[in-house]
Amino acid sequence: MEIIIQPDAEAATSVAARLIARLLSEKPNAVIGLATGSTPLRLYQELVGMKLDWRQVTTFNLDEYVGISPQHPQSYHSFMWDNLFGHINISVKNVNIPDGLANDIPGFCASYERKIIAAGGIDLQVLGIGTDGHIGFNEPTSSLSSRTRIKTLTPQTRKDNARFFGSEAEVPHHCLTMGIGTIMEARQILLLAFGAGKAKAIAEAVEGPITARNPASILQMHPVTKVCLDPAAASKLELQEYYRWVYEHKPVWQQL
Ligand code: F6R
Repeated sequence: MEIIIQPDAEAATSVAARLIARLLSEKPNAVIGLATGSTPLRLYQELVGMKLDWRQVTTFNLDEYVGISPQHPQSYHSFMWDNLFGHINISVKNVNIPDGLANDIPGFCASYERKIIAAGGIDLQVLGIGTDGHIGFNEPTSSLSSRTRIKTLTPQTRKDNARFFGSEAEVPHHCLTMGIGTIMEARQILLLAFGAGKAKAIAEAVEGPITARNPASILQMHPVTKVCLDPAAASKLELQEYYRWVYEHKPVWQQL
């Protein structure tokens, strides 16, 4: 894991945006995995401002709530079109977001996995992290080799996400999410975390044991994972000074 601690969330986001811009210039038909939530909002704004060419890009979103329509204002479909897809030249047919209204949920999840493979696999997966260490909606104790499937949100995640809905009662109980095994097959992973609320989850994921109690800790086994943090999210890392030192001393050819 490469831990990149920047002076603030804006700077950490810029590192992530530059990495995605570089991927698109090297591989215009890249396959990108995307996340929703508060964390990537600034990243999407920055990507929109960069006016990149997305015509050949294919995207796969991590997750979607079960039981709400794509038109629901809090669906992840709405989130993605409002915050990214509606402002770039991506082709609608190349956008993939789990269908929260699928009748045959296991069948839909299996077809989502097949689509990722048919697209050539994910080149870069953007991730946020839950306060409990979830990635996608793979909550603690999720199988570390799981595939796309239905999951039950924890009471904590429903509480955390109530801010997007009118009340906690309106937050769905279930979601469809790429599995941890699915995420781990991405060639490159870019995890972003900002704010003190994420500090414990980040410290456990980066410096703790690999355990399904903190699903993000499996990223220690991924060969190309970058973790972009602001100082608050990094505040519980024991080796934070070392990570800063490493980043400052990167060989020129590795700099972002
Ligand atoms: C969303 C997702 C989740 C979020 C996580 C953090 O697609 O996969 O894992 O990244 O819940 O959410 P925020 O960014 O709102 O703190």
